Amino acid sequence: MLRGRGKTLYNADAEWDRFRPNWYQRRHYRSVRDDDRRILTHTRDHFAAHAPGEGAVGLDVGPGPNLYPALAMLPFCSRVDLIEYSSTNVQWLQRRAAGLEADDGEDWAPFWAVLAENAAYAERGGDQPLRQVADKVVVTPGSVFDLPEAQWDVGTMFFVACSISSEVDEFYEAVRCFLHALRPGAPFAAAFMIGSDGYQVDGVEFPAVRVGQTMIEEAIRDMAGDAKVIPIPSGGGDPLRDGVEMALALGLRAG
Ligand SMILES: C[S@@+](CC[C@H](N)C(=O)[O-])C[C@H]1O[C@@H](n2cnc3c(N)ncnc32)[C@H](O)[C@@H]1O
Repeated sequence: MLRGRGKTLYNADAEWDRFRPNWYQRRHYRSVRDDDRRILTHTRDHFAAHAPGEGAVGLDVGPGPNLYPALAMLPFCSRVDLIEYSSTNVQWLQRRAAGLEADDGEDWAPFWAVLAENAAYAERGGDQPLRQVADKVVVTPGSVFDLPEAQWDVGTMFFVACSISSEVDEFYEAVRCFLHALRPGAPFAAAFMIGSDGYQVDGVEFPAVRVGQTMIEEAIRDMAGDAKVIPIPSGGGDPLRDGVEMALALGLRAG
């Protein structure tokens, strides 16, 4: 088994079924960090400005135990598809989609509160905005590399293309497949770690490609109109990991 940094670890070779969703959620999404707030705010305003029409279907690729990309799409959608490769993450997501209780240290209301600062969200959220997860989310096991073409009206892919392989070709291919899956004109948001060459989830190593702003721009430019890549400083006094920053790509699927 290929393992460890400095060696090529293809997406299919990493141990995705050892990904521990509860550990990851507590590590990253116990509260709204400054970087999450910036990502949510930019994504929210982009989707509100380019809201898809009635009956729209959303796509979040590789959600893991992070519900905030789905929350950012749910008010505009009749359904949001979560396509996830790891069986442990699929099980975690299915429990949320079934309306089962959150775990200790898991609270998505503060993430929703950031979204609801925009009137388009506040108006569409209803009395119980978090119920939208149980009402509209469909969880499907699958891979970004197998997505069908032009099926979704709005899409998110957060910390996936850069964080599922150490092979640079798989980074470009994952971005291409994600954008290819959206209908022309669909608004999208894609978040990336900048400068990561791997990460651990509860002691298990997962691969990453050390991407930078220019690589992200290259990956999206042929398939995205009006796109921008926004640097997101990590942490705000609490960097997620030393030397690692983030970026958020926003745009509309070209075509
Ligand atoms: C670094 S985590 C990001 C999780 C989450 N999107 C977030 O914002 O924190 C990478 C995610 O990609 C998933 N993944 C790995 N390979 C994938 C593939 N081929 N297709 C779709 N998702 C994949 C992993 O299971 C994991 O949930």
